[in-house]
Amino acid sequence: MPVTVLIGAQWGDEGKGRVADWLAEQSDAMARYAGGDNAGHTVRVGARRFGLHLVPSGIIHPHLTCILGSAMVINPLRLVEELDMLVGQGVDVSSTRIHISPRAHVITPAHIALDGASERALGSGSIGTTQRGIGPAYSAKAERTGILTGMMADPDAFVDAVRAQIEQANRVLVDIYGLEPIDAEDSMAQYYEAAQRLAPYLHNTTEVVHALLDAGKRLLCEGAQGTLLDIDHGHYPFVTSSSATVGGAITGLGFGPQEVDRVVAVSKAYCTRVGNGPFPTELDDEVGQRLREVGSEYGTTTGRPRRCGWLDAVALRYAVRVNGVTELVLTKLDVLSGMDTLHIATAYDTPQGRVTTLPLDTAATDEVVPVYETLPGWQTEITRLRRFRDLPTNAQRYVERVEALAGAPVSVISVGPEREQAIVR
Ligand code: IMP
Repeated sequence: MPVTVLIGAQWGDEGKGRVADWLAEQSDAMARYAGGDNAGHTVRVGARRFGLHLVPSGIIHPHLTCILGSAMVINPLRLVEELDMLVGQGVDVSSTRIHISPRAHVITPAHIALDGASERALGSGSIGTTQRGIGPAYSAKAERTGILTGMMADPDAFVDAVRAQIEQANRVLVDIYGLEPIDAEDSMAQYYEAAQRLAPYLHNTTEVVHALLDAGKRLLCEGAQGTLLDIDHGHYPFVTSSSATVGGAITGLGFGPQEVDRVVAVSKAYCTRVGNGPFPTELDDEVGQRLREVGSEYGTTTGRPRRCGWLDAVALRYAVRVNGVTELVLTKLDVLSGMDTLHIATAYDTPQGRVTTLPLDTAATDEVVPVYETLPGWQTEITRLRRFRDLPTNAQRYVERVEALAGAPVSVISVGPEREQAIVR
């Protein structure tokens, strides 16, 4: 059983990129299985900082094979930019080590325009998307009108398909939203070049995955976004349009569940969310502001300030159950240093009484009042510590309480942004 699935236990931005970077050492291949360039994974290696949106973060480890799976939505222009950035940093991006599924879907300018138009039309009820065209690309996929990445093998036919899609979207933009049409010719040359550039990377990723598994190699599936943004398991419609949970890895890459022996979920030591939707433990006060500043909580993809709040153990336990989590990685514990008291939500008060499980109803979740357990904080700096037993007693107690409430062991704790700032238990 050689597959590890790495998932976000919250609303994304948990620090999965750096965890993927650690797990890369023990892996032979790394695959992105869902989402697109709405994701932003940051990996720091010494003075170098890599911001990745589409390519699996394992690319910076020369021994790894990288796969972009069938359930992804790929903006070819952004992918080319990312490959160029990696080349500039001296990373090997040859087509023998990067494999793009021909069954992923292409994000076009039409999807990006429709994403923006729909968000503006929703006004205060907007989802707060990253405006990368994710929802419209997955809508086209479900409608069976999408453009497969495999079409890039024939750049002329590919560009014709992109142009036709833009013309179709223009009717919606003009007639429904009352907007100006987008100029189909604007980006056609770029799309043509991108297709030429990316065509050599199109491979049968199902076969690539199975050849690896047959050879006893270890595959790391790098999740994007988080459990509470999953299209089926988050609070609809304030979700992304893909399966961010463990099941997404299985359908997105095409292997059986028995291959998975490790499900690693990443959670911050507190909570953040970008975009709209329920966030029971959100803090609209100076404590929330402090978490944002100390934790540098601004989006990697959009730069938006993140909403911040206390750790929500009700939601974390939900993520552990939905994904069959075998271990937790707790990130940014250092951000909590210096606070007198800490709070963890252990239940919610609702008009129907107290509940300890996550309501599935979105409006009802918006109304819950979190019930907090209060724990004493710690005042000392912990960023240089590397052993659990060296942490202040109250920090140890905080971690142990998270484990007990979540129902999964914490195997690694991060105490700073650098690769080595971690406590492995
Ligand atoms: P979309 O994926 O751009 O359609 O955005 C849908 C929701 O998911 C919005 O609330 C976004 O802010 C959120 N979202 C999408 N990708 C990420 C991510 O990588 N990190 C955090 N939030 C994300």
